[in-house]
Amino acid sequence: MHITIKSAEEQERMRVAGRLTADVLDMIGPRVEPGITTGELDRICHDYIVDVQGAIPAPLDYRGFPRSICTSVNHVVCHGIPGDRKLRAGDIVNIDITVIKDGYHGDSSRMFAVGKPGIQAARLMQAAHDAMWQGIRVVRPGGHLGDIGHAVQQHAEGHGFSIVREYCGHGIGRGFHEDPQVLHYGRAGTGVELREGMTFTIEPMVNAGERHVRLLPDGWTVVTRDHSLSAQWEHTVLVTATGCEILTLGAAERP
Ligand code: MF3
Ligand code: CO
Ligand code: CO
Repeated sequence: MHITIKSAEEQERMRVAGRLTADVLDMIGPRVEPGITTGELDRICHDYIVDVQGAIPAPLDYRGFPRSICTSVNHVVCHGIPGDRKLRAGDIVNIDITVIKDGYHGDSSRMFAVGKPGIQAARLMQAAHDAMWQGIRVVRPGGHLGDIGHAVQQHAEGHGFSIVREYCGHGIGRGFHEDPQVLHYGRAGTGVELREGMTFTIEPMVNAGERHVRLLPDGWTVVTRDHSLSAQWEHTVLVTATGCEILTLGAAERP
């Protein structure tokens, strides 16, 4: 395992990539409405990243992924491929954006409700959001990766939901997926010790039903085995001297 420590200059480039990533999510949010297709969302994001930001959508051609963003609707856990599916009122969708700017990656995803979500869907989205934040809260130098997994798992399971085990957060920088793996379950005080200058994602996938998942024959789309709803949020964070800096905050959340 090789975990890269980012220099001050690299950290600044990660800040730029993270801000652009959040800008794409800020831009696309209002477009998530009944009747739009996931393919149209992909095209709008692709054009914005390429033409407005002068950046690169990292998913496109990544290990053969055919589109520029991931759109995961309802029981799709992650890596949904944008296409002809029209969004309908009551759907929930995760939009996952990764951009490369100046050689560095930013990676973030949010949940969006199409129209008014059902009560269970709203609770699930909130629990996944708060589970991610519980994980972010414990990031500090001298802490351990297990602290994050523990905090995320406690929150999600404490609300009666389950955590997907097959996919995890990851180091990020020049590479899309670098060491270490950031598990969303585990025991506090275990695992790799966190150091100032590390950058990684926290991106728990939380299921309304059981935690098990299935990969569809397209080789990408991951769904819940029991077809229950799934929700995910993702931020890219930098470990600082005193805690962490969240690199992918939306414009409305920036200090
Ligand atoms: N953005 C996803 C992550 O959070 C990875 C997507 S890989 C792709 O790690 F190929 F599906 F785009
Ligand atoms: Co990620
Ligand atoms: Co992502």
